[in-house]
Amino acid sequence: MECTVVVAASVAECALTVPISRAVWGDETLVPPPLLLAAAHNGGFVALGYVAGDPEPAGFVFGFLGIRDFHFRHHSHMLAVREAHRSSGLAKALKEAQRDHCLDQGIEVVGWTMDPLEGRNARFSLGTLGAFAREYHRDFYGAMPDRLNTGLATDRFYVEWPIGHQRTYGRLRGADRPAALEDAEREGIGYLLRAEDERPVGLTVPRGESHLLLGIPRDTQAIKRDDPALASTWRQATRAAFESAFAAGYAAVEFLRAADGHGAYLLVQQPKPREEPAADPGDEVGV
Ligand SMILES: CC(C)(COP(=O)(O)OP(=O)(O)OC[C@H]1O[C@@H](n2cnc3c(N)ncnc32)[C@H](O)[C@@H]1OP(=O)(O)O)[C@@H](O)C(=O)NCCC(=O)NCCS
Repeated sequence: MECTVVVAASVAECALTVPISRAVWGDETLVPPPLLLAAAHNGGFVALGYVAGDPEPAGFVFGFLGIRDFHFRHHSHMLAVREAHRSSGLAKALKEAQRDHCLDQGIEVVGWTMDPLEGRNARFSLGTLGAFAREYHRDFYGAMPDRLNTGLATDRFYVEWPIGHQRTYGRLRGADRPAALEDAEREGIGYLLRAEDERPVGLTVPRGESHLLLGIPRDTQAIKRDDPALASTWRQATRAAFESAFAAGYAAVEFLRAADGHGAYLLVQQPKPREEPAADPGDEVGV
């Protein structure tokens, strides 16, 4: 589908994000248009997305300039596409425009937070964009009353998107697509946690595995609606599993899907940071 991205450069254009936010999250998470404009005027990025045949904006992206680990990076705070225009390619077009803006500034990493129980976001962030996560934050935003977040602790991945990497360019071109979950299972990759009858079941895996799988529900929003206690059980189970995996040096690098719609993160053990060679006690260091 033909999509167009327009950078918002006035408060009136920033205000066009409000009906989209309302439709996606409700009234509780609206960012005031003057704040969007202020962020955009100071290195941030606000853009509206249009889909051919619809004069109303169908989506938007909003991020601001940040610093982490002593380096400038872009923090992408919101991305939304109206339900009727999902799977149109617009979400990717908005992220590509954001990437171009950041590369022009010499910024190489875009970060954002993501609920690890949202399979669609996981597939989009890790699969379509080629981002990864290696940090887990419990109840990051505290209780949120909006449509998507109400009822569960707001645990979040901190997602990192290395926008200048060859692998990222490949992913955006549609090359190097993620494997099917069934293939990963056939290769013998073990589950740290998996869904059995839609309930989380923790499993013991041998120590030192290079790859692991971590399953989540097919539709967390439906579980929240129909069985809040089960949704909470999933939050606790995945929290424990991700925290232990990340502490052991794994990162979530893919979200793999099975033909029946089930999905699981692929966790890969990261190389250990290089250790400084031990100083020779005979060496004198002058100043
Ligand atoms: C996040 C969002 C912008 C992505 O836009 P989108 O149009 O839905 O994204 P796409 O369709 O291009 O990509 C979604 C991917 O998830 C897959 N998917 C769909 N439903 C899924 C599910 N239940 N579980 C796992 N993956 C799923 C799609 O098949 C697609 O993957 P593929 O391209 O490999 O087939 C949009 O869903 C949205 O506005 N969500 C609500 C707001 C939100 O959560 N924003 C992000 C946090 S600020």
